[in-house]
Order: sequence, then C-alpha cells, then structure tokens
Amino acid sequence: MSELPGDDGASALIDAAVADALAERGFAVALEFLARGEIASLRADAERRRAAGEFHGARVGRGAAAQRDASIRGDEICWFDAPRASAAERALLARLDALRLALNRELFLGATEIEAHYACYAQGVGYARHLDRFRDDDARVISLVLYLNEAWRDEDGGALLLYASPEASEPAQEVAPRGGTLVAMRSDAIAHEVALARRERFSIAAWLRRRA
Ligand code: OGA
Ligand code: MN
Repeated sequence: MSELPGDDGASALIDAAVADALAERGFAVALEFLARGEIASLRADAERRRAAGEFHGARVGRGAAAQRDASIRGDEICWFDAPRASAAERALLARLDALRLALNRELFLGATEIEAHYACYAQGVGYARHLDRFRDDDARVISLVLYLNEAWRDEDGGALLLYASPEASEPAQEVAPRGGTLVAMRSDAIAHEVALARRERFSIAAWLRRRA
C-alpha cells in the first residue's frame, strides 16, 4: 500500500466505480471506501471532539433563518477545520480530494472545494427526508456520507434511505451505516432521510462544492 491516500490502484478503482454509478443512477454506495484502521481513528477523533464539547445541535435552514428543530433533524455536528485536523482527518480530506479530482475528470463537475462535518445521531434521533442543496445556493454538487460504526446490526436502525428523485415515493436503496461505507449522491437530485437510530450513530458528511 502506498503512503499517500488516493494514489493507489484500489482507490482509483473505487473512484471510477463511484463515478459510473453517479452517472447512471445519481448515487453510489462503496462498502469499503476506507480500511478499518482509518475508520477506527476517525471514530476515536469524533468521540474525542464530542467529549471536548466541540459538537453542537445541527440546525435546519440557512443563514438568519437557521433554527434547531430536532423533529426534522436531531443530529449534533462538528465541522472539520483543516488547521486543527488530526492525522486521520487530514488523510481523509486528502482521500476525498482525490475523489473530487476523479469525479471532476469523469463527470465534468467543476467542484473546487470540500466542506465536511462529523455527525452524531443519539438513540431515537433521525433526519427527515430532504435534499442537500439549498434553494438559493447551488454550490453543493455532490454529497458524501462516510460511516464510522463498527458492528452495526440491522436492528440498530439508522439506515440511510435514498430516493432516486425528489418525487419518488419509495426508496431506491437503503444503506446501513456500517463503518467504511461511503455514499455519494447528486446534491440537487437525490432526496434522502436517516431512519431513527436505536444506537448512537456516527458519520461524516461532506460536500464537493463549486465556487459560489
Ligand atoms: C446530511 C445527511 C446522512 C447520514 O447530513 O445531510 O443527510 O446518513 N446525512 O448521516
Ligand atoms: Mn443530507
């Protein structure tokens, strides 16, 4: 294995498969996007930040209209900031940047930057069906979610339900939030929701963005 994330053959194959699925269906699921050791490090960093009080209740809406409404969205989040990122967080951002470049090349996305946050869903918490793109802001092109949960069982709930279009009534796919799984979706087209988690559930949400 190479030292640099994103420059080995396995990563390139994963990125190509993600690009193909995005082109074909608007979403992609990669079950082993990161190795277990990397996932364990990110999970430990997430828990350390949570214990240090760096998470806060996620809000819905944007700018001055943003408000906490746990009946829509109950997770707590912690934005990544590159200057204070841990080694594992820096490696993840580098890996996602390689994915960004691959998707730009294959899908002509023109994504120029990445934003990312940890999310923690407590027991009994979910996120109602939504699109990740704000009506007044089309900067987000691709939404990414990476899961940090070892040994997640189906009865733990917390599945991500993906809808093929904003109008679709039935989910096209359900994804269990198992450690190492990455979901990619078109931010403008793929509605999704997080089913109630019955166990504490950690993820990283990231967006590939065009410059505003
Ligand atoms: C989000 C989101 C999904 C998940 O943060 O916008 O949809 O599975 N997260 O954590
Ligand atoms: Mn979302």
